[in-house]
Amino acid sequence: MRENKLLSLLNQMTLDEKIAQLMQLATPFFKGAKEQGQITGPMAEMGVTDDTIQNSGSVLGASGAQEIINIQRTHMEENRLGIPLLFMSDIVHGFKTIFPVPLAIGCSWDLELTEKSAEIAAREASVSGVHVTFAPMVDLVRDPRWGRVMESTGEDPYLNSEFARAFVRGFQGEELTTDVERVAACVKHFAAYGAAEGGRDYNTVDMSERELRENYLPAYQAALEEGCEMVMTAFNTVFGIPATGNKRLMRQLLREEMEFDGVLISDWGAVKEMIPHGVAENEKEAAYKAISAGVDIEMMTTGYVNHLKELVEEKMVDESIIDEAVLRILQLKEKLGLFENPYRGANVELEPEVIMSAAHRKAARELATKSSVLLKNESILPLKKEKKVALIGPFAESGDILGPWSWLGSRDEAVTMKEGILSKTSRLTVAKGCDIESITDAQTEEALKAASDADVILLALGEDSDMSGEAGCRANIQLPSAQLQLINYLQSLNKPMVAVLFNGRPLDLHGVLDQTDAVLEAWYPGTEGGNAVADLLYGDVNPSGRLTMSFPYHVGQVPVYYNHFNTGRPQGAPDAQERYVSQYLDIPNEPLLPFGFGLSYTTFTYSDLKLSSATMTEEQTLDISITVTNDGPVAGEEVVQLYIHDHSGEVIRPVKELKDFQKISLDAGETADITFTLSENQLRYHHSDLQYKSDPGTFTVFIGRNSQDTMEQTFRLEK
Ligand code: GLC
Repeated sequence: MRENKLLSLLNQMTLDEKIAQLMQLATPFFKGAKEQGQITGPMAEMGVTDDTIQNSGSVLGASGAQEIINIQRTHMEENRLGIPLLFMSDIVHGFKTIFPVPLAIGCSWDLELTEKSAEIAAREASVSGVHVTFAPMVDLVRDPRWGRVMESTGEDPYLNSEFARAFVRGFQGEELTTDVERVAACVKHFAAYGAAEGGRDYNTVDMSERELRENYLPAYQAALEEGCEMVMTAFNTVFGIPATGNKRLMRQLLREEMEFDGVLISDWGAVKEMIPHGVAENEKEAAYKAISAGVDIEMMTTGYVNHLKELVEEKMVDESIIDEAVLRILQLKEKLGLFENPYRGANVELEPEVIMSAAHRKAARELATKSSVLLKNESILPLKKEKKVALIGPFAESGDILGPWSWLGSRDEAVTMKEGILSKTSRLTVAKGCDIESITDAQTEEALKAASDADVILLALGEDSDMSGEAGCRANIQLPSAQLQLINYLQSLNKPMVAVLFNGRPLDLHGVLDQTDAVLEAWYPGTEGGNAVADLLYGDVNPSGRLTMSFPYHVGQVPVYYNHFNTGRPQGAPDAQERYVSQYLDIPNEPLLPFGFGLSYTTFTYSDLKLSSATMTEEQTLDISITVTNDGPVAGEEVVQLYIHDHSGEVIRPVKELKDFQKISLDAGETADITFTLSENQLRYHHSDLQYKSDPGTFTVFIGRNSQDTMEQTFRLEK
């Protein structure tokens, strides 16, 4: 159906039908849904009529080919103009085959596997009838107290942008209309949701437009450049106005400047939340502000269906604004081929073959091994299979390793750490040792007994997945004290101890890193987590993950991130005074573990950093080369990271900024010459007048294994 046919369809729609097209409700409202009629709580108070439901434009949270076919079929029978429903769901890091959480995927620095994980998620979702996924979430994060850091790929704008592109490519593919194994992506949450004050979800975000453009917008921009079809509004305020009713953010910045003309959907209830935010007296005013800001779909509240008609009649809202929104939704349906085939990819027969296939699980296992980060290893890993192992901890046999936003995944089908280890050795004893947040004498005794005859103790520790994710914010970012107690008890046995962590945020690892001989950060590794962890612990895979979010020394440091500013009184400067510098009296400024950090079972040496010239101009590029040698005992992967520092800008400039990286594989003893090419556009930044440009002057280029351990050389940009 081409543009003119869509326009003629639009012209046949009544105002009521147009407005209903802008509403998105969850499946219980729809005939044919498994939970049809189970309308409870706030949903029951919505007072939505059947007539409105019959004309609604999209459905939230449906999954399963048969259910979606049932809902769509009933809808197509009842909808006067035969406009098909759009089915949208949260498929963030896998559909049923669950991949590691995005913060873990970020630590893989593997864009190819990331894209593949999104492609697999799309394939499983589309065969189950889903058309749109509410992903990727690309919010930059610097505060591990926030529960949703697990959903982001980290603290760097450039790296987040590269991952945003990879996720969108994987979800959408090249041709959404004909490739029914893909789904439309929806980048979220626009904008700067990750900067919630105090790391408290839904809290105020207040930053300069320059900071917003410099650090928070690039990843959304990258997703849109990759053709992302939808954008979701953020719950938070930007420039003092909730994003969902923010014309400057949505019309000026997103639609005009970033040239986004796709569908903009509110987050759950975010339209009505303008009332408690304090910028709307009632639902009608909230609806007015949202439609004026260009929000096309209202998710899970009914301000549009209750008030837009009145607002049009009162000439507060021109019907053309509603037409614009409806047309964007019809265009997305057209792009997905729904007018030709409302059932698109849904396939009841094929579904069981595609979902959780061996190939999908294999990909999940591979990405989980790449996403885990070896944080410490006092020559105890990899384990030898003849060693007697005591596996102790609340995650020893837990399926709660899928992490938040894995609602379709099955914990029962997840490979637990015990199952993974048993696939490597039978010389295993297991004890829970404690619960996530409590410990008993009986549990302690059982743990000590299980460990008494072991050669090595494997600790399986972490956060319950409810302690992470949306509204999962913690002011104390240590492991729960019961688990720290368990470590202390087991310390008394004087045996080598390895801690494996299952968690959704950087933790304050005091009591863990200093009390054990090795630590593997597994995050929430997904369906194949137990196998991936075992592959790494026994050396079948050499760890290669590198942190993309700093681990604080203490929560009092937060926010702590690598690309910080120097200040006028930096610690350690030649003329620095003892006291009067930017520091804490009681803890260091540096994080416990820096951005880019991660260990391997081998070692890599860097040498011969060379620049093709000591100067460059806007027209020239600078070739930067370095030699990397695997001078350790086994093959391994290294993430060679390139940072720059602009010595003097019109505004202050970060002490380091990641500008490129290469993940390379080297056999034991192998040497490689790695080359990067730096161009002037990588030296640009937002000036105080918001112009995005570079300045002539001195720069330092750093190359190394993480943001702290680098080699450096300076060069000049000449204009
Ligand atoms: C939630 C989340 C958003 C999600 C939406 C639909 O509140 O903030 O990320 O896509 O609701 O489930």
